[in-house]
Amino acid sequence: MPDIRQRKQDHIELALKEEHQCALPTIFDNVRFEHIAAPELCLHNIDVSCQFLDRFCSAPLIIGAMTGGCDNAETINRHLAEAAQVCEIPMALGSQRAALELGLPQNIRQWAPTALLLGNLGGTQLVEGGLPLAQAAVESIRADALMVHLNPLQELAQPQGDHNWTGVLHAIETCCRELDVPVIVKEVGTGIGPTTAKRLLESGVTWIEVAGRGGTNWTTIELARNLSSREREIMQPFSSWGMTSAELLMPLRRLDADLGLIASGGIRNGIDIARCLRLGATMTAVAQPFLEPALQSTDAVVEKIDILTEQLRRTLFLTGSENLTSLRVAPLASSAVT
Ligand SMILES: Cc1cc2nc3c(=O)[nH]c(=O)nc-3n(C[C@H](O)[C@H](O)[C@H](O)COP(=O)(O)O)c2cc1C
Repeated sequence: MPDIRQRKQDHIELALKEEHQCALPTIFDNVRFEHIAAPELCLHNIDVSCQFLDRFCSAPLIIGAMTGGCDNAETINRHLAEAAQVCEIPMALGSQRAALELGLPQNIRQWAPTALLLGNLGGTQLVEGGLPLAQAAVESIRADALMVHLNPLQELAQPQGDHNWTGVLHAIETCCRELDVPVIVKEVGTGIGPTTAKRLLESGVTWIEVAGRGGTNWTTIELARNLSSREREIMQPFSSWGMTSAELLMPLRRLDADLGLIASGGIRNGIDIARCLRLGATMTAVAQPFLEPALQSTDAVVEKIDILTEQLRRTLFLTGSENLTSLRVAPLASSAVT
């Protein structure tokens, strides 16, 4: 079991390296807003607040799932949680599996007593642990929702990764039916496409976090940890496998107008957040860019949130949008995606 802790530590160290970020700076580039030269707005009055799971959020931004906080990642979690509390934005925890299986305390509510917190377990862990594990994940942190991550590609690249993915949809369906909180299903950087989304909807899921390709690359991170040269050779071509949020958001929105849709994977500034909302996302999540500030201090995380929010506000200003409702129908440049 200490293996899990070492793995989480490796993940944090590797995720900080530029080489494990997909070199896709252009994923959102063909979503170009029409520049409004006469916005007739005062920047100061622009409102980027919203509701998520019936709660107020100061911006449509979630701190993406990274650490369960059971080890030296506790400092990271503390800084993220305190910032989520101060800034009134939701925070998603990383997998709680290790903490639950090792019986370790999860202190997150100490630092974020009223923040919107999203618990986290893996799809295959749900099959093993069933509903009791899901209930423990929610109750241990008084979570407002449970995120279930689907990461079959990462598991294939991971040493001793999980290769049996049978029964995951059934386990998710049980959670949707029995848990008292909503279930949000997410990927980790390869994307959830319309075929999977349809199955998830049939299982009772009402929220999906896309987590598309374009940001943190879990295949290269796992291969950097994988000592088997045979496995590395097999998996190397999959380093660029996956779909981006930019290509998935509109098809997913067309699939179901009421689906709660969280865009993520490679969102790196407030313009990207605005583009995702324009393409149909309800909310957005950012993970890796919070890692370095979270290693420093709560103030550094707050500052990062403020910068992303201010970039979003200025995008609204330059698109003539007084709030997020207007942004969702803001005119796009004529050559851009429609
Ligand atoms: C250090 C690190 C650890 C992560 N651990 C988890 C995890 O435990 N559970 C999960 O659902 N996603 C995890 N993720 C994936 C992120 O939530 C996110 O889906 C992915 O990194 C893509 O977003 P990004 O490009 O903004 O980093 C982790 C990401 C990072 C950077």
